Amino acid sequence: MDPEQQKIIEKIAGAAEQKLAGEGSGHDWWHIVRVWNMAKHIAKCEGANFFVVELAALLHDIADWKFHAGDDTVAPKIARDILEKHSAPTETIDHVCDIIAKMSFKGAGVKTEMKTLEGRVVQDADRLDAIGAIGVARTFAYGGHKNRSIYDPNKKPAMHQSKEEYFESESPTINHFYEKLLLLKDRLNTKAAQELAEGRHRFMEEYLARFLQEWDGKV
Ligand code: NI
Repeated sequence: MDPEQQKIIEKIAGAAEQKLAGEGSGHDWWHIVRVWNMAKHIAKCEGANFFVVELAALLHDIADWKFHAGDDTVAPKIARDILEKHSAPTETIDHVCDIIAKMSFKGAGVKTEMKTLEGRVVQDADRLDAIGAIGVARTFAYGGHKNRSIYDPNKKPAMHQSKEEYFESESPTINHFYEKLLLLKDRLNTKAAQELAEGRHRFMEEYLARFLQEWDGKV
C-alpha cells in the first residue's frame, strides 16, 4: 500500500474512533479494531485489496442500520461523506460504500451476498466478531441496549424472512443465538474465517447448553 493510502486509513481510523468510542451496544471502537485486524488477516490469506478492506472495516458500523429505524442507506451515505472529505479515490469510495450497504445480517431467511472478494473478507471479519466468547458478550450488551429480556422459555426462536421482521423482533437475547449467531458459521465466505469459526461456534453451543442447564437448576 502506498504512503498516500496509508495516510487516508490513519485519518479514517481517527474519525471512526472519535465517533464510536464508548458506544455501549457492542458496536464500539474496539469492535472496529477487532474487525479491522481480522479483516487484514483474512485479506492476507485471500489476496484481497488491503486499501478497500481496511476502509470498509473501519467504516462499516459508522451508522449501523439497526440504529436508524432499519434504514440501511444511512451508513453508506455517512461513509461516503467521510471518504470524500479525506480525498479517497472515487472508485474506492464506490466499492467501500457498496460493501457497507450489504454488510449486515438481516434475518435468517434474508440473503446478504457480497459481489467482491473485499466485501466477502470484511463481512466474514464482522461475523467472526459476532460469535464465540466476544459474540456472547456483545449479544447481551446489545440485548440490554434494546431493553430485551435475557430469556423467556415461552418464546420460541423465529426465523425472520425479511429485514423488517428481523428489525422489529423483540425476541429475548438467548433466542438471538438461534435466530442469527448459530447460523453464521455456515454463512461465511472464506476458508480462513470458516476455520476460525469452528471453535467459536462450539463455545457458543457449550455456553447455551450450560445456560439452559443452570436455568433448570440441573448444575
Ligand atoms: Ni460490525
